[in-house]
Amino acid sequence: MLRSASRAFTRAAAARPTINMAPRMASAILSANKSTWANVPQGPPDAILGITEAFKKDQFPQKINVGVGAYRDDAGQPFVLSSVLEAEKRVLDQNLNKEYAPITGIPSFTSGAAELAYGEFSPVITQNRLAITQSISGTGALRIGADFVSRFFGKKKIYIPNPTWANHKNIFRDAGMEAVSYRYYNKDTIGLDFEGLLEDLRLAEDGSAILLHACAHNPTGVDPTQEQWRQIAEVFQEKGHFPFFDMAYQGFASGDISRDAYAVRYFVDQGFQIALCQSFAKNMGLYGERVGAFSLVAESPEERARIESQLKIIIRPMYSNPPIHGARIASEILNDAILKAKWLQEVKDMADRMISMRSLLKQNLEALGSIKNWDHVTSQIGMFCYTGLSPEQVDKLAQEYSVYGTRDGRISIAGITSGNVARLAEAIHNVTK
Ligand code: LMR
Repeated sequence: MLRSASRAFTRAAAARPTINMAPRMASAILSANKSTWANVPQGPPDAILGITEAFKKDQFPQKINVGVGAYRDDAGQPFVLSSVLEAEKRVLDQNLNKEYAPITGIPSFTSGAAELAYGEFSPVITQNRLAITQSISGTGALRIGADFVSRFFGKKKIYIPNPTWANHKNIFRDAGMEAVSYRYYNKDTIGLDFEGLLEDLRLAEDGSAILLHACAHNPTGVDPTQEQWRQIAEVFQEKGHFPFFDMAYQGFASGDISRDAYAVRYFVDQGFQIALCQSFAKNMGLYGERVGAFSLVAESPEERARIESQLKIIIRPMYSNPPIHGARIASEILNDAILKAKWLQEVKDMADRMISMRSLLKQNLEALGSIKNWDHVTSQIGMFCYTGLSPEQVDKLAQEYSVYGTRDGRISIAGITSGNVARLAEAIHNVTK
C-alpha cells in the first residue's frame, strides 16, 4: 500500500519539469524511477529443458531432439499409451467431481504406487509402516523428501553421484541441504567406478544420507549389477548410511518393473528405512500430468503416522494438495489387473524400442567407419546414452547438424527413430572423427 502510494507520488513528481531542481533530489527521482526488478540478473537456460527451447527455434526440417528424456514413438512423435487412454476414458465415464484431493493425494493411487515399488506383499505395506504421499511427479517427490530430510535427518548434507541428473543439486540446495558428490562413473572405462563409489561411501561420515538412482541411472545409463547392489548395501550397513532412492525409470531399464525395483526391494529386505521418490512421467508417459509419489519406511505404524503428519506440514504451504486427473488415471491402471497387464506390456515395448535403437545407432556408426569404440551405446541401459562427447562436440552437433543433446554428452535414446538414426550417426561420426 505504502509502496504504491509513494510510487504514484514519485511518478507525478517525475512528470513535473526538473528545471532548477537540486541534484540530490534529481538523483532520488531517478532511482525511484528504476524498476523494482532492475537488479534481477538474467539466469542461464536450464541444462536440459533449455535444449528443448533451442530445438523448437531451429527451422531445419530434419532436426533431431535427443535432449530431454521424453519417450517418442518410431515416428518421433510423443506417445500416449493405449492403457492410459483406456484408463482416462474410464475416469471420464465416472463423471467424478473436482473436489480437492487430501494433502497426501488419492489413497488408491498411493497404495498402488507403493505396491508397484515395494512389491504387493512387502512387510512395510502389510505392517502399515510406509508413510507415502502423492507428489508433483519425481521432481516434487525429491523436493518433499529433501525438505523432510533437511528438517528431521539431523545433517544438512547429502551425497549425490557424480554425475547425476542436472536438477538434483538444485533441489537439495533449495531445501537447505548441501549436495556433495561421490564417485560413480569412470570415463576411461565408460562404466561404473565401483571401487571409487565404495571408497567414497566408506569415506563419508557415518550415518550420511546418500542419493541412489534405483535403476537406469540418469545421465550415464550405467547401473550397478545385482551383486554390486548387495555390496553397496553392505557398506551402507557398516557405515549406518541412509539410502535415499530416486526411481524415475521403473520399467525403463529392463522392461520389467520388478527387476528394475531390485535395489529398492533388496535394501528394504535388509532392514533399511529407505526414502523413495517415484515418477510416473516416463513409465506411464504421464509427463505433463505430474504424477509421482514420495515414501519413507517407518519402524512402526505409530512412527508412520508421525512422519505422514510432517509430510502434510511440508506440502500444505508448498502447493496445498496435488492435482487429481493424472493420479486417477494411474490409479485406474494400478488397481485393475487386466489394464495393468496391458500397461506392463507397453512399458516393455517402449524399453524394447529403445534397446533396438541403441543397436541401430551403434551399427550405423560402425558402418560409417568410425574407429571409436561404441560398445557403451548398447551396454548402457534405460533412456540415456552417455556418449563421451565433449561439450564442444555437442555444440557442434547443434550448430552444424541441428542435433540437440545435453552438453554433458548425454543423448536421449527415446529421441532416436529408424528414420533419423542414420543422420544422427553421421552427425556424431563427423564431430568425433
Ligand atoms: C531428463 O533428465 O531429461 C528428464 O528427467 C526431464 C527433466 O525434467 O529433466
